[in-house]
Amino acid sequence: MEIEYKNQNNNLQKDLAEKFEIDHVYENQPIKRTLDQPNLSNKQSLLENLKNKILQVSDCELKKNSKQIVFNDGDNQSSIMIVGEGPGQKEDEIGKPFVGDAGILLNKMLEAIKIQRPKIYITNVVNYRPPNNRKPEPSEINRYSVFLREHINIIDPKILILMGSTAMEALFGQNLKISKERGKWKDLIVNKKTYQTILTFHPAYLLRQPDQKKYSWADLKMIRKRIDELGINLV
Ligand code: URA
Repeated sequence: MEIEYKNQNNNLQKDLAEKFEIDHVYENQPIKRTLDQPNLSNKQSLLENLKNKILQVSDCELKKNSKQIVFNDGDNQSSIMIVGEGPGQKEDEIGKPFVGDAGILLNKMLEAIKIQRPKIYITNVVNYRPPNNRKPEPSEINRYSVFLREHINIIDPKILILMGSTAMEALFGQNLKISKERGKWKDLIVNKKTYQTILTFHPAYLLRQPDQKKYSWADLKMIRKRIDELGINLV
């Protein structure tokens, strides 16, 4: 038998339970149905915490061979988050993502859809430069994808842009082909929240295959359209 009791007073509840010989008393409190998302003030400390966790990674070939961690760039309050693959030589030297040739192209791509780079947030799947810029191994992608999911949860973007196959594999698994999946909106669930996600070609791939830029341009236009539909302010 249960009876409802409106006040939160444990002793009273206990007395009541004993008096009426009932198993337990339940409270008439509303259930919190919204997910707790990081608020603005604690984002910075959650990011520091995540960065420290990544700094503590051990037994990692990427970390061993790199100069430093490359964690993030841009506005951590942004509604737009970009995920690349991993740092290259320049990123390893400077400690920021997308500052080499691929970064220069990325900046132009963003400008083409009237986005100023400092208004968005950028990270990579792996936070240490792979030796000779090789693609991260599946085991490395899996290992760092745990941190990436936490990163997405903290930034909590309205639009998530995954650039290249490594970012796609980290979040959607190994069985997809970027050439088939690019240019489509997909739902990504992280910590019970659904993120509007689009896959598109990596700028480094576009530097090698400039004929593919037409597809990238189509994806960029889709992204711009969704930004406008969602009323995201990037100024
Ligand atoms: N390529 C990436 O994926 N990330 C960078 O930061 C630089 C190049």
